Amino acid sequence: MKYNFDNLPSRFNINSLKWDVKNNELPMWVADMDFEVAPKIKEALLERVNKGTFGYSICGDEFYDSFINFMELRHNIKYKKEDIIMSTGAVPAISSMVRKLTTPAEKVVLMTPVYNIFFNSIFNNGRYIYESPLIYNRDNQEYSIDFKDLEDKLSDNQTTLLILCNPHNPVGKIWSKEELLKIIELARKYNVTIISDELHCDIVRPGLKYNPILSLAKEDDNVIAIMSASKCFNLAGLQAAYVVCPNKNLNWKVKRGLNTDEVAEGNAFYNDAFVAAFNSIDWLDEVNAYIELNKRYAYEFLSKIPGVKVIKGDATYLLWVDIKDITNDSLKFTTFLREKTGLYITEGIEYGNTGEGFVRINLATSLSNVIDGMNRFKMGIKLFK
Ligand SMILES: Cc1ncc(COP(=O)(O)O)c(C=O)c1O
Repeated sequence: MKYNFDNLPSRFNINSLKWDVKNNELPMWVADMDFEVAPKIKEALLERVNKGTFGYSICGDEFYDSFINFMELRHNIKYKKEDIIMSTGAVPAISSMVRKLTTPAEKVVLMTPVYNIFFNSIFNNGRYIYESPLIYNRDNQEYSIDFKDLEDKLSDNQTTLLILCNPHNPVGKIWSKEELLKIIELARKYNVTIISDELHCDIVRPGLKYNPILSLAKEDDNVIAIMSASKCFNLAGLQAAYVVCPNKNLNWKVKRGLNTDEVAEGNAFYNDAFVAAFNSIDWLDEVNAYIELNKRYAYEFLSKIPGVKVIKGDATYLLWVDIKDITNDSLKFTTFLREKTGLYITEGIEYGNTGEGFVRINLATSLSNVIDGMNRFKMGIKLFK
């Protein structure tokens, strides 16, 4: 490997959300990577810092062009610059769109368990969280969509929005073309807008590719994709995202919403960092290979622990683990685990009621941390029983 992912930069004393922990603790929770970013990103940022001036920034053409080229090269989809709106992050954009595209008390559908902050974007804006639980087959640890239930929820005349996670955090599923086409068709039939959060699309298992929803939707469908270099290139702290919406009327509405909510401008660093990221394909390929080794290690290790079942996700660096045979109180377990072993992971209940009895573990760290984490996990289970 050209890059050394075994050596991690220290994240202590840099106000890291993830690493604000006690000395003996090992955080494997929030979705960011512990790896140093691609060298081109660091160089671009150093060059920017050396200019010594940090006034207001605008979005450069390269910010769009590098992303458009990357998407064409890697995902065979050609986005148009005029369809893309910059935002200060996926969550600010989603919250803004919830406010702009729905009215208070209307229903927003989530396919649960799902990324916890989607719930906040709906609830905090006075809308109704309408859960369509995924089907979980415990025998083969596979998730699938309950299309009958989804249609019931989308056909409700109070439902106006569906927030989709593609690939899906936390279960790691890449939705197939057939599944996405069915979702689009249902949304079209019941006049529901789709926001597809595609932030995790470039961390996938070998040989797999995610399916961009906009490669399947028609231009006038009410479908919006959110993308960023944040998750896959470890730039979440730079707070920038792309909102892609080919439907002209909807695009205009979303643009107005993001502007009035003041979430369409970024800091002095995101332009340079994102351009460098989309030109660091070799780093992305290697980080994927490294995460795959971590996943294999964790799958194998955890599968040997009685009562633990691992969901073999297609994508993301997050591992979704079924601990139902040990407990149905995931918060009690993760709190105990942190107290007794220092391992800090996320309780499944964070992702909705259907996440109860599961935990989520972030594997975007060195293999030695993964080995350490797995041993702490095993010890925690032994003590908890
Ligand atoms: C699916 C998904 N969407 C959005 C975010 C957060 O995005 P942002 O930091 O751009 O608001 C996360 C972070 O974990 C995520 O997993």
